[in-house]
Amino acid sequence: MLSPIQEYVEQLHSRYASSTEGHVADYIPELSKADPRWFGICIATRDGHVYEVGDTRQTFTIQSISKALVYGLALEDRGEEHVLSRIGVEPSGEAFNAISLREGSGAPFNPMINAGAIATAGQILKKDGKNRIERIMDYLSGFAGRSLAINQEVYQSESRTGHRNRAIGWLLRNFGILDEDPDETLETYFQQCSAEVTCRDLALMGATLANQGIQPLTRRRAIPSEYVDNVLGVMATCGMYDWSGEWIYRVGLPAKSGVGGGILAVLPGQLGIGIFSPPLDKQGNSDRGIKVCMDLSRELALHMLNPTATPLSAVRLSYHGGEVVSRRRLPPQAREILRINGDMIQVMELQGGLTFTTIEPVIRHAAELGAGCKHIIFDLRAVVNANSVSLILLANLGTRLAKKGVRVLFCHPGRLMAALRTVGIAENEIFNSMDAALEDCEDSLLMEVTGVSWRPHAPLNLKSCTLFRTCSDSDISFLEQELQRRRYETNQTIISSGDKATEMLVMVSGNVEVQIHLDKETRKRIDVLTAGMTVGEMAFLDGSARSADVVAMEPVECVVISKEWFDGLNARHPALKIALLQEMTHEIASRLRQANLSISAFHRS
Ligand code: DON
Repeated sequence: MLSPIQEYVEQLHSRYASSTEGHVADYIPELSKADPRWFGICIATRDGHVYEVGDTRQTFTIQSISKALVYGLALEDRGEEHVLSRIGVEPSGEAFNAISLREGSGAPFNPMINAGAIATAGQILKKDGKNRIERIMDYLSGFAGRSLAINQEVYQSESRTGHRNRAIGWLLRNFGILDEDPDETLETYFQQCSAEVTCRDLALMGATLANQGIQPLTRRRAIPSEYVDNVLGVMATCGMYDWSGEWIYRVGLPAKSGVGGGILAVLPGQLGIGIFSPPLDKQGNSDRGIKVCMDLSRELALHMLNPTATPLSAVRLSYHGGEVVSRRRLPPQAREILRINGDMIQVMELQGGLTFTTIEPVIRHAAELGAGCKHIIFDLRAVVNANSVSLILLANLGTRLAKKGVRVLFCHPGRLMAALRTVGIAENEIFNSMDAALEDCEDSLLMEVTGVSWRPHAPLNLKSCTLFRTCSDSDISFLEQELQRRRYETNQTIISSGDKATEMLVMVSGNVEVQIHLDKETRKRIDVLTAGMTVGEMAFLDGSARSADVVAMEPVECVVISKEWFDGLNARHPALKIALLQEMTHEIASRLRQANLSISAFHRS
């Protein structure tokens, strides 16, 4: 099926396919060989999906678009303050090749005009056995996600004719902006401008900047995230030369154009756009490229100063520990305590991207909850990314609430694990699953309420087991005499799915895990049964095959109720049979009630 987005891009392309306005650059003789009909449009999303139409795989030279990216390398090599001391960041309002230097210091107004770009090339270090242009080519290739080459004909052509740029280079040398004679720097600059790219490369370079510096296809970092805003900042204010103000007004995207006919535009945090059409307008920007970008921005609502899609809060769902409990089946008294005091455990499921804006309502809500609860669990499984500010705020919330005796825990950290540690969240507050976090909170809450651990220290007597709790003393002695005891070792399989249910077990010590098979290798815990609980009663009652595996988590001791013995009770001890069936009904009803509570908490809007 043709995606409606692909269809839109194709329509946009045909809207301008026959345009003949603008002139192909010829001040560099080799550039005049470009076919004015070449025309490509490409949009690359932050996750690396590419929509493309037209001549998106035709190579051409990157020209001035390189200036924006190489500025990033200069920042990385020399640091922000050093670079700012040599090259300003003020729009010059002049043409790209203007000899526009600040009076007195001789510092170029910005890195996007030729003077600033030549000065920037002079800042690139020779390092790791590589000269400047080798490092620049590696750097540009990192953004494209493939190895780029220099078009030697275009480079030689510009090197032979670039007298004005040579003059600018010597002026920069005169003012001490360049530390050495400019020849080598100028050759570096001419070569970087001659790097061959495609329209698709431009879109992916843009998507890399939109993705905080990570190339979406290679997943490699092309630029440290701390310099992405600097690069986008100069693109936004100076990228389109003396049309920069009108560009930001009309299109609203940081962008950079080149005389080869390329335009690279970025919707920060979202996508990159590459346009290729060699005929230029009088400012030296691609004529068709500008028109396409104006339409794209308006029709897809991409203007960065009027964002339509800022999420309000990262909270997907919130509930408390009386509504949703861990999958472990606790003794009835413990369950009752959790039902009554469950709101001491609050859970917030977060989603999407965590930023100041989305985390602010979460912090506000958690601070309010903290006044009346003991534990707050943040479930991070639906969080796709988080900036450091949001995580620092969460860590800070944890420290402040801890002083009031409230614990803040995190579960399902996924890819955020390292970042959580970096902001100082303690290891013992991070859990791999919601179940593990809930168990931890439930244990502390039960301890706080009763003063003793709910975990039995010794094997339970039969009267303390749920199934037998209404039995008289004489029934208990009858059961003690009649029922066989059995032990299982840690990890021993007690029940296998598919088996016939010929018995049920009443556990007097240990815990078992109920697992279902997701596929051949993966099993998922669906329940944990603790001492006092009955194991395997469902298939036992309705005669169906076992639906899950049950595995001992530690040494387990139990009494065995065989089908034969249970059936025999009808004649031998009908009152006991009725009592046992009543207890089983009671237990199943209580579990169903809990499941209903959880379902309604999960569906709350
Ligand atoms: O400095 C020059 O003349 C070229 N190599 C680059 C200029 C350029 O791409 C201007 N952009 N629109």
